[in-house]
Amino acid sequence: MGNSIKPIGVFDSGVGGISVLRELVKQMPEEDYIYFGDSVHAPYGTKPLEEVRQLTINNICFLLESGAKSIVVACNTATSAAVAQLREMYPDVPLVGIEPAIKPAVMYKENSCVVVMATPMTLKQKKFQNLMHQYEDMADIVPLPCPGLMEFVERGILEGKELTMYLENLLGSVSNKKINSVVLGCTHYPFVKDVIQKIAGENVIIFDGGEGTAREMKRRLTEAGLLNQSGKKGKVRFINSLDTDDELKLCEFLLTYKR
Ligand code: DGL
Repeated sequence: MGNSIKPIGVFDSGVGGISVLRELVKQMPEEDYIYFGDSVHAPYGTKPLEEVRQLTINNICFLLESGAKSIVVACNTATSAAVAQLREMYPDVPLVGIEPAIKPAVMYKENSCVVVMATPMTLKQKKFQNLMHQYEDMADIVPLPCPGLMEFVERGILEGKELTMYLENLLGSVSNKKINSVVLGCTHYPFVKDVIQKIAGENVIIFDGGEGTAREMKRRLTEAGLLNQSGKKGKVRFINSLDTDDELKLCEFLLTYKR
């Protein structure tokens, strides 16, 4: 067994990465997880690149010091800012990041209009620009920065008038296009998917990268002989830099939200 019984470390700037954590638990229920959310410093998506890179590195160090056998960077913003540095720093650790699920959206329907909702930082990074260029001949890809959206989820607001108005405004800015699909390029956004669906219309297909990221981590652990096969159901431990009871309650709530 050895290292296989150690937990998987999962990190996000706040509670958003729980949308990835729930996919991980679904696909690998026997694993233990430590989830670290840095809500004190959230949002990351509107901060300078260097600051996000440093915060991300610090948080990954913390998870490894806490005994994590592998790392999921469950934050598109942190992945785009620091994944290359992290891979260099920890070549022996199975480390998986998340990126906007453009490929499945483009593959689903060719020559379609794909709106990519993400933080301003994710959309500005070279990593995203390269990803977009790879598929731009196959679809009309429209990046849509969403400053302020993750804050609703951090406050536990997943529906209601204020959120609906914010999203109507945002999606209204691309209403001259006939949208075929929406990519949720920030791990907070799957928690407000229903509101987005209602505004975008029932025929719009919504993609997010949670499932694919969990699948990739499972593949990496299997390859490294690190998959926990104890036969027992694993545990999830939440740590948040805010360290309040309310924050912990929000984490527990989001883990079981609409499953
Ligand atoms: N959940 C994060 C992401 O996937 C970012 C939110 C933020 O800190 O701005 O991009």
